[in-house]
Amino acid sequence: MSIIAVVGNKGGTGKTTLALNLAAGLAARGDAVVIVDADPQQSAYQWRLAGDADNGLPHVVAAALGLPKTVQALRDAHEHVVIDCPPSIKAPQAEAALRLANYALVPVQPSPMDLWATTHIAKVIERLRAENPGLRALIVMSQLEPRTTLSKLMPEAAMEMDLPVAAVGIRRRSIHRHCVLEGRSVFQAGKRGLEAAAEIDQLLTELLNHG
Ligand SMILES: Nc1ncnc2c1ncn2[C@@H]1O[C@H](COP(=O)(O)OP(=O)(O)OP(=O)(O)O)[C@@H](O)[C@H]1O
Ligand SMILES: [Mg+2]
Repeated sequence: MSIIAVVGNKGGTGKTTLALNLAAGLAARGDAVVIVDADPQQSAYQWRLAGDADNGLPHVVAAALGLPKTVQALRDAHEHVVIDCPPSIKAPQAEAALRLANYALVPVQPSPMDLWATTHIAKVIERLRAENPGLRALIVMSQLEPRTTLSKLMPEAAMEMDLPVAAVGIRRRSIHRHCVLEGRSVFQAGKRGLEAAAEIDQLLTELLNHG
């Protein structure tokens, strides 16, 4: 049983996109997985509504209120619960998710300022480890454009961070935006989604197969 919380302190970094596709990647591996949308904006919930009910995208439960009870009710029937959090680490939903989670993923866009803004998240995670000692946190580089200077500089900037950075980064690809329109994940986008799906699957391997 794993609980994966996708958190952040900035809007639009790719939290919902990562949460949904990670869950879809786990489902593609044959695992029972559910997404809990803890963001009052309900982006993940609406994304799911945009797709056919039987399109294979994991079920999304909206739970901006009563997160612990919702997760408790879901944990027995699922191998993984992926929680999509609002864009503030101070939001009560983010803190509640981090109390429950085994893994916290922090998507960060390739900008040094965005990376520095994770310092506050690292502090919150450190504080919550007193109650949740097993919590493992990883920064995930999001919307990377490998040819740009900034994206090339990011690994160096990331070395100075208080949180470890995942070896696998998520590239900016138009298929991610198309998939939102179609209410699906990159795992259900056929050939067009193959590269994006492979990246998500590598991240899952890195996350779940740590020593
Ligand atoms: N890897 C990617 N490649 C291309 N577009 C992306 C990628 N990840 C996210 N996006 C796009 O960036 C925008 C913001 O993504 P998303 O909604 O996942 O971010 P968020 O962090 O959940 O935002 P919020 O803070 O509002 O909850 C969306 O239009 C999404 O389609
Ligand atoms: Mg979101």
